[in-house]
Amino acid sequence: MTEPYHIDTTSNWRRQAVEEWLFGLDRLSPPVREKVVTAWVSAWASSGHEKLEDMPFSPGEQPYRLMDHVNDVTRAGIDLGARAAADWKVAFDPDVLVAILILHDVDKPLIYGREGDTGVHTPLFYELPHGVIGGMLLKELGFPHTVVSTVATHATNAPFHGRNLEAHVLHYADLFAADHAFRQMGKTPLYLRHGK
Ligand SMILES: [Fe+2]
Ligand SMILES: [Fe+2]
Repeated sequence: MTEPYHIDTTSNWRRQAVEEWLFGLDRLSPPVREKVVTAWVSAWASSGHEKLEDMPFSPGEQPYRLMDHVNDVTRAGIDLGARAAADWKVAFDPDVLVAILILHDVDKPLIYGREGDTGVHTPLFYELPHGVIGGMLLKELGFPHTVVSTVATHATNAPFHGRNLEAHVLHYADLFAADHAFRQMGKTPLYLRHGK
């Protein structure tokens, strides 16, 4: 088995591409923004994907682009967070909530590869669960525990999810956006899969 990822602070062309792609970076304080970009650059540089556009959201034919899903989730989560803050008298630290939204699927380039137009599982997919690998990477980059634990337990098949409000917001933003992706791929959205 090879190491799942390496931290990459040197790929300036990748940093530029990641900064142009990610929605919501302007909501983060400068040091957190730098770490968020480094996290995605590291996952990309450690993956077999040449371009950001090649990263699949899920395995299968003609997969939805992960880069679109990530921004779908960040936009939806920022909207939900604003709604919750206005209606429920709660407050979010953008350096926590927005970082969680942007980074929740940071390990997907490492667990989903690509063969032609088809997304495939990499060997790492069978070694560590989705979310846990991202949590490891984020812990190594010095993110706070709330970011690490929420990302590590966000997957729909995780044994449990975080009890913090950021985990609540991420869950619905993620599933809302994922069901759009499933529709685009001609698959049944999660909310219609009950009883199957
Ligand atoms: Fe995920
Ligand atoms: Fe997701």
